[in-house]
Amino acid sequence: MSKSINITLDGPGGSGKTTIAKAIAKDLNYIYVDTGGMYRGVAWFIDSRDIDATDEQGVLGVLPELSLDIKVVDGEQHVFVNGQDVSGQIRTPKMSQCASIISTYKDVRLKLVSMQREIARSVNSVFDGRDMGSYVLPFAEYKFYLTADIDERAKRRYLELKDKGQDVSLGDVKQDMIERDERDSSRAFAPLVIPTGAFVIDTTNLTIEEVKNIILNKIGKLNKD
Ligand code: DC
Repeated sequence: MSKSINITLDGPGGSGKTTIAKAIAKDLNYIYVDTGGMYRGVAWFIDSRDIDATDEQGVLGVLPELSLDIKVVDGEQHVFVNGQDVSGQIRTPKMSQCASIISTYKDVRLKLVSMQREIARSVNSVFDGRDMGSYVLPFAEYKFYLTADIDERAKRRYLELKDKGQDVSLGDVKQDMIERDERDSSRAFAPLVIPTGAFVIDTTNLTIEEVKNIILNKIGKLNKD
């Protein structure tokens, strides 16, 4: 069996990595893996057990009772917690903060990292996350880091949440994002960084199509090398 090819897209929230990773995966007929969704699944589980995300020992204590699964349903990644599809409940500001907190715990990360590496080994995939190119798959064939201006990122996330009918304010979304950026970048284990060898794209003034083409071009170029 030939070795699978992996593409990683890392970056802060609202940088466009999810939208772009999905589009790239569709174009290349690769599997798309939203690793943030996995951390959100753990956050949902912790919340369902009434454990405060900041209580590290409490979180680690129930971790062995968590069975996390991701499956593609109608072309979209769905997250299952102990057999229950929680995909519709994990994209809220509360779950964002909770996921950011529990993702600072090394044992939580290691549980998900082994699942992610297993997928990477078995199929051609596009991963979006925070540490995919730096820690999980440092030898991935193609690594990208997406970023954008904080106001632009907050606006994108605000419109996305509004679109889902959530009652949020732009100011709160921006504040949440600043806190998450800080936590995700400063944690001790596998923080959000620009991975060595990653191609950096500032998406502030670019359309989805433009970013997608930059990445596909880059991959095409690298293929010819
Ligand atoms: O991409 P997202 O907003 O769905 O991610 C939610 C949180 O999960 C994010 O704030 C940090 C964490 N995360 C992580 O630590 N490592 C990843 N590879 C993906 C997400």
